[in-house]
Amino acid sequence: MPPVEVFAPANIALAKYWGKRNRALNLPTNSSLSISLGSLGTTTRIAEAEKDTLLFNGKPLDNAAPEAQKIWRFVALCCPHRQQSITITTSNSIPTAAGLASSASGFAALTLALNEFFNLQLSDNALSTLARQGSGSACRSLWHGFVEWQKGEREDGSDSYATPIASHWQALRIALIEIETQAKKTSSRDGMNHTATTSPLFAAWVAQAEKDVHSIKRSIAAEDFMALGQTAEANAMMMHATMLAARPPLSYFLPESLATLQRIWHCREQGLAIFATMDAGPNVKILYQVQDEAAVIAAFPHAHCINPFSRCS
Ligand code: PMV
Repeated sequence: MPPVEVFAPANIALAKYWGKRNRALNLPTNSSLSISLGSLGTTTRIAEAEKDTLLFNGKPLDNAAPEAQKIWRFVALCCPHRQQSITITTSNSIPTAAGLASSASGFAALTLALNEFFNLQLSDNALSTLARQGSGSACRSLWHGFVEWQKGEREDGSDSYATPIASHWQALRIALIEIETQAKKTSSRDGMNHTATTSPLFAAWVAQAEKDVHSIKRSIAAEDFMALGQTAEANAMMMHATMLAARPPLSYFLPESLATLQRIWHCREQGLAIFATMDAGPNVKILYQVQDEAAVIAAFPHAHCINPFSRCS
C-alpha cells in the first residue's frame, strides 16, 4: 500500500462543546460551532511497517504509553479487520495540549489518513462520527472554515457529527495570545465531566449554548462581526463561569489570561472591535477583522495572527 499524508486544521469553538451525555462515545449535551485555524494543525503520514510504530513530533512514542494506547485503540475502532502493521508519523504546527485544540486536529488527521491508507471509502458523516470518538472536537476539524457539530439525539451517536457551513468570510481574523504552552493539569474530559456533575449552573449553560449556536449561524450568514463577536465571547465566559461554579471550582485561567481579557475589554471601550474566546487552557484568542490588524498587533505585540480562510479555495 502506498504511503499517505494528510493535514487537518485545529479549530476554535465560537459556541463551545462542554459536557457529555455519553462519555464513552463523546456525545455532547449541546451543539457547537467552530472556526478552523487555516494552516495551523496536524500533518499525519501512514506507511507500511514491520510492526506498529508511532512517531510523535519527530520522537518515537512507546506503544505502552497511555497516549499511544489511545491512538492504537482508535486505529482498531476505525479499522477492526486490519492486518497490515503501520508507522504513524504525526507532527503538530501548534503547541500540544495547551488549550489550542491539538487533539482535535490530531484525531481528525488520523481519521482521514486511515481512511485513505486502507481505502475505507467512508462518507463525510462517518468520518466525522469516528473522529468524534477520538476527541469530541475532532469531529469539527475535518474541514476548513466554519463547522457546526449537531449534538444529535440518538443513543448510538449516529446523528452526532459535524458539517461545514458555506461561508468565506474574507475579513475575519483570529489572533492567538499564547500565555502558556505546557500541558494542562485537568484534561477537557475530566473538566467537563466534573462541571456537568457538580456545577449548579450546568443546565443553564446547556440551554444557552444551544441558542448561541443559532445566533452565531445567523451572524455568519449576515457577516455581522459585532453580533458574532459578542455571542462568541459571552459563550466562552459562560462556559468558564459554569466551571468556576463547579464544586470544587475549576479554572483554566492564569493571572495573565485575565489581564489579557481586561486589555481586550479596554481596547473595545476605546472603539476597537475585538472579542475574546478561551478554551480549556489559559491561552486567549482574539476575534477581529482584517482592517484592524495593525491596531491588534500594536495592542498585543506577541499575537500570532491567523487568516482562517487562507487554505480555502
Ligand atoms: O474535544 P475535547 O475533549 O478536547 O474538548 C474540547 C473542549 C473545548 O475546546 C473547551 C470546547 C470546544 O468546543 O472545542
